[in-house]
Amino acid sequence: MNIVYHQRTKTFHLYNDTLSYIMCVLENGHLGQLYCGRAIHDKEDFSYLLEKMPRPMSSYLYEGDRTFSLENIKQEYPVYGSTDYRHPAVEILQENGSRIMDFQYESHTITGGKPALAGLPATYTESDEEAATLQVTLRDKVTGIRLELLYTVFAEGGILARSARFVNEGTAPVHILNAMSLSLDLPDKDYVWMQLSGAWARERHVKNRPLEQGILAIDSMRGHSSHHHNPFMVLKRPSATEDSGTVLGFSLIYSGNFRIQAEVDTYDVTRITAGINPSCFDWKLEAGESFQTPEAVMVYSEEGLNGMSQTFHHLYQKRLARGYWRDRPRPILNNNWEATYFDFTEDRLVEIASKAKECGVELFVLDDGWFGARCSDRAGLGDWVANRDRLPQGISGLAERIEALGMKFGLWFEPEMVNKDSDLFRAHPDWILQTPDRSVSHGRYQYVLDFSRPEVVDGIYQMMAKILSESKISYIKWDMNRSITECYSAALPGDRQGEVFHRYILGLYDLYERLTSAFPHILFESCASGGARFDPGLLYYAPQGWASDDSDAVERLKIQYGTSMCYPISCIGSHVSVAPNHQVFRNTPLHTRANVAYFGTFGYELDLNKLTDEEIAQVKEQIQFMKEYRKILQFGTFYRLKSPFEGNETVWMTVSEDKKTALVGWYRVLNGVNMPYTRVRLQGLDPDLVYENVLSGTRHYGDELMHVGLITSDATSGEVVGDAKPSMDFDSRIYVLKAADEQ
Ligand code: DGJ
Repeated sequence: MNIVYHQRTKTFHLYNDTLSYIMCVLENGHLGQLYCGRAIHDKEDFSYLLEKMPRPMSSYLYEGDRTFSLENIKQEYPVYGSTDYRHPAVEILQENGSRIMDFQYESHTITGGKPALAGLPATYTESDEEAATLQVTLRDKVTGIRLELLYTVFAEGGILARSARFVNEGTAPVHILNAMSLSLDLPDKDYVWMQLSGAWARERHVKNRPLEQGILAIDSMRGHSSHHHNPFMVLKRPSATEDSGTVLGFSLIYSGNFRIQAEVDTYDVTRITAGINPSCFDWKLEAGESFQTPEAVMVYSEEGLNGMSQTFHHLYQKRLARGYWRDRPRPILNNNWEATYFDFTEDRLVEIASKAKECGVELFVLDDGWFGARCSDRAGLGDWVANRDRLPQGISGLAERIEALGMKFGLWFEPEMVNKDSDLFRAHPDWILQTPDRSVSHGRYQYVLDFSRPEVVDGIYQMMAKILSESKISYIKWDMNRSITECYSAALPGDRQGEVFHRYILGLYDLYERLTSAFPHILFESCASGGARFDPGLLYYAPQGWASDDSDAVERLKIQYGTSMCYPISCIGSHVSVAPNHQVFRNTPLHTRANVAYFGTFGYELDLNKLTDEEIAQVKEQIQFMKEYRKILQFGTFYRLKSPFEGNETVWMTVSEDKKTALVGWYRVLNGVNMPYTRVRLQGLDPDLVYENVLSGTRHYGDELMHVGLITSDATSGEVVGDAKPSMDFDSRIYVLKAADEQ
């Protein structure tokens, strides 16, 4: 068990080889935070870390004492208003109007493994040895509310997973206005805050800012985790790099409104909070009811950002994602969206699929436009029955034809949405989220179904399950193309409207759970206008997600680089699309489009019939290459070597588990003239193995490649002598390094 409890000092020490996390029960019964950092020896007493001292303008809990002020004590799940003036982890409104709470230690349990969180996605264990879980039970005597704080420390990697559960064991209802999943007080502010932010088509760009006294936060109030901010944040020491130094990553396993915040107080203590966004949140907890927060995961790394990312990748790939596809290399697909948009017939689809099959593609995906009256984005959403004008033999007929080609068939859904021009809306106009007596806003002419209502979720489940049982469908792309407005449910009373955003997400998770359980072999890919819900919550149900609607190779460098900070390569949906590109109208060479897309799930988002014979020959080679290396590309150990946010070149690489094969992706945006000599120092190789560079036939020891570097100089534009290949804008190479037989 990686958790020790010292009875005399009431101290908990959660640890593994990387991390120590130490807490104690304070004299007022609350939980105090003593240490979070590199693994240290266990001791009975760490109370010297409670630096209690009188501070001007502080208020104190005990008459006659001028040291015990919660404002000056580092805590684990703080409340506001009884000597602490910082933003709290929890706020509960009681019947008499008070918000003061006093959660005091009652008991604790330490168990092997990790319990599931009812109705919510969470990391899991497959044996009790993989992790240990501490549950600390606290109680507010006045309201009778029991608070259970869960802490799971994994046996390997600096991973700590946390959540909180409230049980109303009193007699009166209360309103939970804020319930963070994680709160952590760190003793200083010497960190750079890093976030993944952007917008539609430029999601998860890396942004850095130093911490300073005051509040820094990212959040979403759009009803989904959003393109704008990912529910992920890093605190890194200013000296930390990709390869070295102390880094703390915080990730929230949730797909709805969230907030991640750092508050640096006047004594340079940094309070991190992460959880459901308290804005617009108000959960009524009747006597006898309970409320579970989502899970937050903290990863501590002494090996820089790459070390942190590798820990997240491994955890999220193996112990968050689930099911048949979790460990399987992903099928190479051809999606028709950018090939046809809404303009297709059954024969045209089969024509696209046939060419894809000839090239070696394994899965054909029919995107938006196959159902109801969906000839544009103005109609049909909600009617999950095939449009017989376009698909005379229905989905089952088309699926048969695709399967007859020797490919699998996949289908697009947008289950949470409805157009007003649809049979579903005509039958159930009250099924959408809308506020009484107010106008209801649209996004892309569509309205959001009220997924907080079980009967709505069930209605959609029935329609989807029917199609999935009647047709040979191996893959689903689950889209969500607008943010929520006028959030109000006709099924809930006025004093429960603050629950709707969260209940919606619970309804979404419920539908995913029902479908993934009923159809366990279907591969689910999440999507929300590209990457608006690319979050760990959905990874629990869908092991891959469409990373962005921007399929341009150059734009993708930044998007995929940022995404890799937290998310495994096996979950990054990435396709080769046409040039000029449909989002930025840029002409990039076909080889670069593939070289970027290899570091993801890989597929084509175009009509291969429109390519020249020479291009088709290239596509065939690309598909062969991906089939040979996809296990390593998707499941190897990934290293970022050069950042697209810092210069003209991007380099990343992946290494197989046995370290015998490595693939290095090298990308240069603009070409230069008569450029300098360049080398890239690789990572993760076996220093004693000799690797053959398949491109050049040269051989080098792993230590040479890691410490001297891989030479990437080339004949850049200008004078190209002999048979040297001229270089170009948007150029790239994949270096394949294989352990040579003899050393
Ligand atoms: C947004 C998605 O991100 C696209 O890939 C495509 O599926 C469209 N929606 C279809 O409406």
